Amino acid sequence: MTCVGYGKIILLGEHAVVYGYPALAAALDRGVTMAPVPTPAGGPLRLDLRAWGLAVTAGDDHPVGKSLAAIADALDAGRPPLSLIGDAQVPPGAGLGSSAALAVAVARALCTHGKRPLDIATLTRAAGVSETLVHGRPSGVDVALAIAGGTGVFRKRTGLAPLAGVPPLRVLVGPSGQPRSTAAMIERVAQATGSLGDDPRLRELGALTDAGTAALLAADLATLGGAMNRAHTLLAELGVSTPQLDALCDAAREAGAYGAKLTGAGGGGAMIAIAPRDHEPAILAAWKSAGVDGFVTTVR
Ligand code: PMV
Repeated sequence: MTCVGYGKIILLGEHAVVYGYPALAAALDRGVTMAPVPTPAGGPLRLDLRAWGLAVTAGDDHPVGKSLAAIADALDAGRPPLSLIGDAQVPPGAGLGSSAALAVAVARALCTHGKRPLDIATLTRAAGVSETLVHGRPSGVDVALAIAGGTGVFRKRTGLAPLAGVPPLRVLVGPSGQPRSTAAMIERVAQATGSLGDDPRLRELGALTDAGTAALLAADLATLGGAMNRAHTLLAELGVSTPQLDALCDAAREAGAYGAKLTGAGGGGAMIAIAPRDHEPAILAAWKSAGVDGFVTTVR
């Protein structure tokens, strides 16, 4: 049986969500899949994910080897003689929730193999242990979306509130190809705000999530796009954009986007845009000429 963890995009609210503000996020129609294959002759608990060039053993020095061990421990799964054979349709470290997608797929595969219940609380706790190892101080939004799929508003205190009846939204996604560390970007925001949740920029990012959510539900893409543009400016003020991401956002707007912004932690990673459908090819072409292979995904 193949077990999945979805990738995600954050439409509005990244970084502010770490301080308790809401984030509007949506699962991608792609992520990480993992098949548990027993090794009857015995052997270690291993993970192979060729798409990311990964071949690790639980507990080895590789960060994913440590995560695998941490997830197995959180599930009380021991070290079964098992190979987790994975595939991925999102790039790693690109701001598309790849690490949470991996952690959730691994947790699901270990539960499936051990015939353990696959309840949301157990998966959230096990994948969360891995995310804390990787990111230090995650809000939990990535894990919630990787488990649940769909679109929702996430708050650290109350978790994911799925949004019902969201009109399908086409989103252009541009992985910049620039690697970055989520933990380092979270630290940068902590320094910019003095770790104070009532920083006016964080407050405004939270308010933009509320306004953008209402606009999404009303299929008012111009208003949603305006909120995304403003969010990008605020994220840049907090120090998590880059000249490349700014240029890609500008290119998307010049090619007719309603709005464009970085998504996820920033410092590289990915950006997103929404646009009238007949402008999408021009935006993808503009990104392509800047060396970025974008794609269109529909979130719902
Ligand atoms: O770039 P990603 O996929 O790691 O997304 C991180 C989102 C943040 O808000 C920056 C951190 C978090 O845990 O919410």
